[in-house]
Amino acid sequence: MSFIGPIRTAVIVVAAGSGVRLGATAPKAFVGIDEHSVLRHCLRGVFRADPAQVVVVAPADRVGEALTEAHEAADDRRDLVTVVAGGSTRQQSVAAGLARVWADVDVILVHDAARALTPGEVLDRVVAAVRATGHGIVPTLPVVDTIKRVDGDVITGVVDRAELAAAQTPQGFRRDVLVAAYERATQEFTDDAALVADAGHQIDRVDGSSLAFKITTPTDLERARDLVASDPVPRVTRPAEPALPRVGIGTDVHAFGGDGRLWLAGLEWPGEPALSGHSDGDAVGHAIVDALLNAAGLGDIGTHFGTSRPEFAGAHAKAFLAETARILAEGGWRIGNVSVQVQSQRPKFAPRREEAEAALSQALGGAPVSVSATTTDGLGFTGRAEGVQAFAVALVVPTSPPAPAD
Ligand code: CTP
Ligand code: MG
Repeated sequence: MSFIGPIRTAVIVVAAGSGVRLGATAPKAFVGIDEHSVLRHCLRGVFRADPAQVVVVAPADRVGEALTEAHEAADDRRDLVTVVAGGSTRQQSVAAGLARVWADVDVILVHDAARALTPGEVLDRVVAAVRATGHGIVPTLPVVDTIKRVDGDVITGVVDRAELAAAQTPQGFRRDVLVAAYERATQEFTDDAALVADAGHQIDRVDGSSLAFKITTPTDLERARDLVASDPVPRVTRPAEPALPRVGIGTDVHAFGGDGRLWLAGLEWPGEPALSGHSDGDAVGHAIVDALLNAAGLGDIGTHFGTSRPEFAGAHAKAFLAETARILAEGGWRIGNVSVQVQSQRPKFAPRREEAEAALSQALGGAPVSVSATTTDGLGFTGRAEGVQAFAVALVVPTSPPAPAD
């Protein structure tokens, strides 16, 4: 688990209601929206917000189930989860949650589990506003309908919409303010902001979210189901795995019979017969190029040095290797090391092995290259000194992590 610093915020998620108006067989927080419950969806939003202690207040006979839901939603942040049994009113449930908030928390959010689709950013917005102002904070939405005052069936007046806002949760408070207000409360309030305002504290608003509607009736549940079905959210959001190093293989064969002198393993070999080929026929260099491109998943030598790159016609292996190193770097790969074996009857490699390794390594920008050589006991085309064959393997390492999956 990554270090997330000291936790100074708690979110009390009240989920202990029975959901009379929804009329389902299970308590409302445990009713499914899709294959996941109202509570699970709510907690997903909570865990997308900045890290906080999460106190889930559940019906007394659902504490175990709530703990399982919370652990699954928390993924690798299970140590932030507390579950406690609630009371017979919402206010009592909040009080039960308050009693379990860690000592070093100084800002507390109270959130309805029934607002299952509330985005994590709303929680972050509320926390930031509490910390900036010290006031109680309520997320609100503007009221869009025209509101009438009525007396039975008679309309008695209009209420100015500009004076109204629809209150949502999470509502946020300084811990000391919320705890003191709960201690002095002797009546039931409609929400925590009303309770805290009654104790004489200022309450401000921030923008809520249309997704933070409360699931109260079967129609609300249908709306939540439609939203989830039309916008399936990945169930678990894990950070992308760090990309692993990759290996690649490359081989090459060239026949003797070219013009001029032999070039092999990045060195010129005076007095040796030349290899034939489009370029200098350096099978060792070409095998390394293929191994590197292969490891990085960037094609092969034909992809990058074919007829479309006439400047490489007749070029020595060092030019191919330097360009390959550049292509890999551009693709986000660093060369770990290269190992190459050459099978040939001649030239005699051992006296110049270190020189070849240094030349090849230098061409690759300093990545270690090791070269070994063998004859094939007189067998095959290499044994008959008709040509040389080289086998290379390369290890490449990603220089930047992949973009997050979610
Ligand atoms: N709540 C609670 N404890 C209670 C009552 C309510 O924790 N004794 C929680 C609910 O679980 C819900 C939130 O408070 O997440 C908002 O309450 P409401 O929407 O009224 O839920 P219910 O009380 O469960 O529903 P109803 O009023 O229809 O019975
Ligand atoms: Mg209720």
